[in-house]
Amino acid sequence: LHVAVLMGGISPEREVSLSSGRMCADALEGQAARVTRVDAGRDLAQVLAELKPDVAFNALHGVWGEDGCVQGILETLQIPYTHSGVLASAVAMDKDKSKAVLRAAGIVVPGGGLFDRHEVAARHVIAPPYVIKPNAEGSSVGVYLVREGANRPVAEVGEPGWTYGEQVMVEPFIAGNELAVTVLGEKSGPRALTVTDITPTKGFYDYEAKYTPGGSRHVLPADLPARVFEAALRISERAHTALGCRGVTRSDFRYDDLNDDLVLLEVNTQPGMTPTSLAPEQAAFTGMAYVDLVRWMVEDASC
Ligand code: DAL
Ligand code: MG
Repeated sequence: LHVAVLMGGISPEREVSLSSGRMCADALEGQAARVTRVDAGRDLAQVLAELKPDVAFNALHGVWGEDGCVQGILETLQIPYTHSGVLASAVAMDKDKSKAVLRAAGIVVPGGGLFDRHEVAARHVIAPPYVIKPNAEGSSVGVYLVREGANRPVAEVGEPGWTYGEQVMVEPFIAGNELAVTVLGEKSGPRALTVTDITPTKGFYDYEAKYTPGGSRHVLPADLPARVFEAALRISERAHTALGCRGVTRSDFRYDDLNDDLVLLEVNTQPGMTPTSLAPEQAAFTGMAYVDLVRWMVEDASC
């Protein structure tokens, strides 16, 4: 089997993808007949047309690699690929659109909405504490937490250098725990693995906390009331189905224990596979080693 591992790409998550891609390619090298590492750029269609792999392992994150664009190239070339297809990738990457789909499926998602970035930079569009995030990025790139009592919003969002879109998502900050659940889209239906409770070493679970070894503490299985734990598993499976996802996804939640609110922040269709990432850690906890997880993804690939 010839597997092309697509990594790098053109999004702000390029370094994260190179890390995911390297790990996945290393794992596959002991498994597949042949692995080609592809640093995915604008010439990807041409590169793959010449390479003619049996399967594309999509280790890209963020814009272009995770939002349906690369998936469209793979559909066109009829190369089976890992993770979600065009529509699910596009919808899941758009926080506003995916929240509408999830809400329609009866899942509790954060309030707030999209605002013009200049307006967001000029005044508090909702009462602090709140979170400002690009509508379609990952790894907490461009995410700001505006704390209670803050007397000014975030100036960066209104500056010419802001590259994450004219509309930004503003959501009330939900105090409490950060939770994550990995789902495997098995033939018999989606199966949630476990719940991880994440505590960043300092501040919030931002890019640094996500990818610096020791940047956050992971407790799995999370120490939560059984009812909440179970709800997180089931909601993650329902979200995977509602968005039409395939392969592996990871749902991220906030749980406010004071008000007993479990809120689904988002579904990630290309969860990180880096040394500090949650999905491989959860798989390992359930007895599925990194190589087993990657092999499962390759077997699950289709187009
Ligand atoms: N966007 C990063 C890679 C994640 O969700 O794991
Ligand atoms: Mg994300």
